[in-house]
Amino acid sequence: MTNESEPVIITPCPDGPLLVRGDFRIAPAPGRPAEAPGRKVVALCRCGKSGIPPMCDGSHKLVGFRAPAPEKSAPENPAPDREPDPGDAPSPGE
Ligand code: FES
Repeated sequence: MTNESEPVIITPCPDGPLLVRGDFRIAPAPGRPAEAPGRKVVALCRCGKSGIPPMCDGSHKLVGFRAPAPEKSAPENPAPDREPDPGDAPSPGE
């Protein structure tokens, strides 16, 4: 990411997905094409019930997923510009 890039903003939706906005890339699973290339906004599933993971397909509503909105807003500049480190990614199932 360069300084000219849009910052990435991740917004947890109450009882729903994580909205990701900005200049982001989603690392592909081994043997699969990149997810959402060129998109500036995506909704990532956090209920674990989507039929099109890692994207949200609205299934969270059908299963009654509950996750409150965060109490505090995110800091203006939460992380320095750098390439993601493999250690940053959560393990499957987290
Ligand atoms: S958060 Fe929408 S399908 Fe999981």
